[in-house]
Amino acid sequence: MATKNISSNQPRHIAIIMDGNGRWAKRKLLPRYAGHQAGLETVRRTIKLCMEQGVEVLTLFAFSSENWKRPPQEVNLLMKLFMTALQREVKKLHKNNIRLRLIGSREAFSEKLQTLIADAEDLTKNNTKFTLVIAANYGGRWDIVDTAKRLALQVQQNSLKAEDIDEELFNSQINLSDLTEPDLFIRTAGEQRISNFLLWQLAYTEMYFTNTLWPDFNEEIFMEALKSFSSRERRFGRTSEQIKNA
Ligand code: IPE
Ligand code: IPE
Ligand code: MG
Repeated sequence: MATKNISSNQPRHIAIIMDGNGRWAKRKLLPRYAGHQAGLETVRRTIKLCMEQGVEVLTLFAFSSENWKRPPQEVNLLMKLFMTALQREVKKLHKNNIRLRLIGSREAFSEKLQTLIADAEDLTKNNTKFTLVIAANYGGRWDIVDTAKRLALQVQQNSLKAEDIDEELFNSQINLSDLTEPDLFIRTAGEQRISNFLLWQLAYTEMYFTNTLWPDFNEEIFMEALKSFSSRERRFGRTSEQIKNA
């Protein structure tokens, strides 16, 4: 489907902090919830754009572990929106050969939501065209601690020696390690921070920030981000000469 590729230097995995739903709604004198609804429409659009451009993986930050601190009404509405989105969209994702995965701590979600998530993952697990990762009740620090805990357990059970823990092993046990690593990070709405999104996984990801609010994110800005990405030289610690001669 990758028909409109703008360059061979394309990101395979894009990770996005979808920010600015509240401000978008406020500008339109609408309740914040309307911004989240409009944001969901942008999610649909963005999946399509990624697939058209031959991107393989899209990871979206939908709800951070810190977002529980928001007013209870907003948290409830976000959970409801998440639930209806799952109920309505999963069949379509499946039909389009898209695999859905969730990262984050699930225990805090209602049982019904947890079941919906598990069913959606199970239904789509063998799909191969595209992978959509939703980070929900996710925090980068939680991810690292969770991985450390699993490794500690293996040491406790004598199936792993502490001295054998290195970056490679740690990396193989953390979320998303089975996927290609994020090449491009995008944050909308003008904020230039990571807000506890993927911390380990973004070590060498290219960053792109736009002032556009998430509900207004569109093909034009998406293509600008890809263009910016394709013009960058990823050196991974090496010199520019080394990269050019490789
Ligand atoms: C991002 O939009 C969506 C979530 C965090 C769930 P915000 O709700 O953070 O929008 P702003 O930052 O208040 O504009
Ligand atoms: C980050 O956005 C989380 C999501 C987009 C889900 P926030 O709007 O919560 O981030 P901060 O609080 O402004 O850093
Ligand atoms: Mg925000």
